[in-house]
Amino acid sequence: MPTTITYEERRGQLLQYFDRTAADAWKRLTSDVPVSGVRATVREGRRQMRNTLLSWLPDDLSGLRILDAGCGTCVLAAELASRGADVLAIDLSPTLVRLGEERFAGQVPRGRIEFAVGDFADPALGQFDHVVAMDSLIHYGAEDTVHALAELGARTRRSICFTYTPSNLLLTTMLAVGRLFPRGDRSPAVVPIQRRHLLNLLAEPDRAPHLIPARSDRVAHYFYTSQALEVLCA
Ligand SMILES: C[S@@+](CC[C@H](N)C(=O)[O-])C[C@H]1O[C@@H](n2cnc3c(N)ncnc32)[C@H](O)[C@@H]1O
Repeated sequence: MPTTITYEERRGQLLQYFDRTAADAWKRLTSDVPVSGVRATVREGRRQMRNTLLSWLPDDLSGLRILDAGCGTCVLAAELASRGADVLAIDLSPTLVRLGEERFAGQVPRGRIEFAVGDFADPALGQFDHVVAMDSLIHYGAEDTVHALAELGARTRRSICFTYTPSNLLLTTMLAVGRLFPRGDRSPAVVPIQRRHLLNLLAEPDRAPHLIPARSDRVAHYFYTSQALEVLCA
């Protein structure tokens, strides 16, 4: 990804990709239908990551308002609602949100899901107790990620649990090799972020004054690698 791309340009690329090119693949990946070996490992890695993020939230989420930021087909939103949360599930892609609504509207035993299309950083969404952002910030660089976290953190009472793609030599090499393949076959590049760089940006008082890094955990399962970080909102 060129470093000069703006947040708005990136968001436009992601909308195009997830709403058109990849909508069907996401529908399959986030369902129970059989998928190829590589995708099956990604599905399992993502299941582990969902459980990691869920384990950082209270068991009983009754009375809490939670934002699922970049909800895709709303799998995590449904789990949060089934623990009693009042969830706002928002994504850029109308197609994925519609799929989530078809799957889960009226299906969760407790809680509630409100389905919305738009930018998760929109201040008009209001206040939350927690925010989860699973694999939705992975497509942005470190500065845009911290900017989005700061925007969300200003309106969040307790914590933001999100994932980023850790930068290390092996992964960087794999991403470089991935660039050899035709674009249509790949998701828009994820942007690996160095943990130290991310933490340094979060520590800058002018960037993210309300955010305190807390728990961190990595899921590395064959073709799926993602790092979870919890930030507490002061
Ligand atoms: C890799 S998918 C993950 C979806 C879902 N969180 C999951 O884990 O199944 C990333 C999602 O983030 C959404 N997204 C990226 N930037 C966004 C933004 N600024 N506002 C709302 N959604 C966004 C994309 O449209 C896409 O559906």
